[in-house]
Amino acid sequence: MRMLAVAVLAAGRGTRMKSSLPKVLHTLGGRSLVERALGSLSGMEFSHRLIVVGYGGDQVKSSLGNLTNLKFVDQTEQLGTGHAVQQVIPHLNGFQGDLLVLNGDVPLLRPQTLKRLLQIHQDHQNSATVLTAHLPNPTGYGRVFCNDQNVLTGIVEDRDCTTAQKQNRRINAGVYCFHWPDLIQVLPNLSADNDQKEYYLTDVVKSLSPIMAVDVEDYQEIQGINNRKQLAEAYAILQDRIKDDWMAAGVTLVDPDSITIDETVELSPDVIIEPQTHLRGNTRIQTGCRIGPGSLIENSQIGANVTVLYSVVSDSTVQDGARIGPYAHLRGAAQVGENCRIGNFVEIKKSSLGDRTNVAHLSYIGDATLGNQVNVGAGTITANYDGFQKHPTQIGDRTKTGSNSVFVAPVNIGADVTVGAGSVVTQDTPDDCLVLARAKQTVIPGWRPRQYPQPADTTQQSAPKDS
Ligand code: UD1
Ligand code: CA
Repeated sequence: MRMLAVAVLAAGRGTRMKSSLPKVLHTLGGRSLVERALGSLSGMEFSHRLIVVGYGGDQVKSSLGNLTNLKFVDQTEQLGTGHAVQQVIPHLNGFQGDLLVLNGDVPLLRPQTLKRLLQIHQDHQNSATVLTAHLPNPTGYGRVFCNDQNVLTGIVEDRDCTTAQKQNRRINAGVYCFHWPDLIQVLPNLSADNDQKEYYLTDVVKSLSPIMAVDVEDYQEIQGINNRKQLAEAYAILQDRIKDDWMAAGVTLVDPDSITIDETVELSPDVIIEPQTHLRGNTRIQTGCRIGPGSLIENSQIGANVTVLYSVVSDSTVQDGARIGPYAHLRGAAQVGENCRIGNFVEIKKSSLGDRTNVAHLSYIGDATLGNQVNVGAGTITANYDGFQKHPTQIGDRTKTGSNSVFVAPVNIGADVTVGAGSVVTQDTPDDCLVLARAKQTVIPGWRPRQYPQPADTTQQSAPKDS
């Protein structure tokens, strides 16, 4: 095996994105394009990992700052892809191996595709090997021309193509292997004699031999991102991949087109995802769950056999057998125990609920700790905020809070307590008691509303008098 270096081209502005953000920092499913391009290199060993940056270079550098063994190469003026690769020359002094070049705006490449390209390149001892694809719609891509021995003879950019050349659907994916000692002979000689007045990397093919084109097996992998429409198309491709994998792994997706799932999500077999449901971030859902319709689960751990209906669950944990929704909102490290029921229009924030506890209707539970089998009556509120600070509420096992009760935190309610409806509870209580914290009902017999003079009756005034 020859030594291998890689250069990722990420210096372009990406004018067609019409954005102030450098193109390679636009995100696709939560990760930037350039991060994804680098991700396609996983499992390969490199003597040099170079990334050419220019437009918005500081932003690109800081976004990748956590990656080790990555060398940033500045391209201060963006004069084209050939000019970008010229910038790596000082970094590869005396290098005798192969250089893999990737466009930073090609985010869906699979690592095995790059490995295969490299294998073919080295097996044939090519000067250059170019990844190609046959696209149904090749508009915008450079067209690749080969002779009848599949030897590459030229690459012509879309805008430089004649009408006849445009009919060629074989395109340049923007992914190349070069034998560096050969490339370095021709790289300095590029000219900018084209429609864009740029130095095209693709022009080196005219002077290298032997040079081969290798078709990608799945053409969707090589989708380049030049505009927002292609970004959306790439997202759809990515989603299809993720969803196909989960369906193959035993997850039911009802109406997959209306569902989105981040790559970081983990699902068990026999999970059912209903329409209009979105699973994001570090989310794990165990077997037997039915999630949706109409739900968003973000960075949350969902146990087995849980149902979530029209609800939002963020940064939270839900244990086995719980029923969430419709229209519940769990957030800020809410922890819901086994077989709990969290119902209609209930918000649970930074609170922990024991097993078989119910908060079924119209409640806010914040900064609270509820025991097992607590029954929270409709409209119960923990008043956790005094305008300056948040305070905790504790409610013991089997306690029942009456409808429309308010717990003014900080407050501790014991176990087996019954709280009367409409109570405003401001003081701690022991276990095993009835708490009533409301004005006593007053009944005044025979009372009538005060009589006001009757308003002038306009219909009578205008009617003719009959006496
Ligand atoms: C390029 C190829 C085209 C191919 C397509 C595949 C050339 C001349 N054309 O076209 O044949 O079909 O990719 O996606 O190479 N960049 C720099 N510095 C620059 C210019 C660009 O680093 O001065 C980077 C960009 O950030 C981008 C990549 O190179 O990541 C490709 O540049 P772009 O302008 O998008 O090239 P295309 O027109 O798509
Ligand atoms: Ca491009």
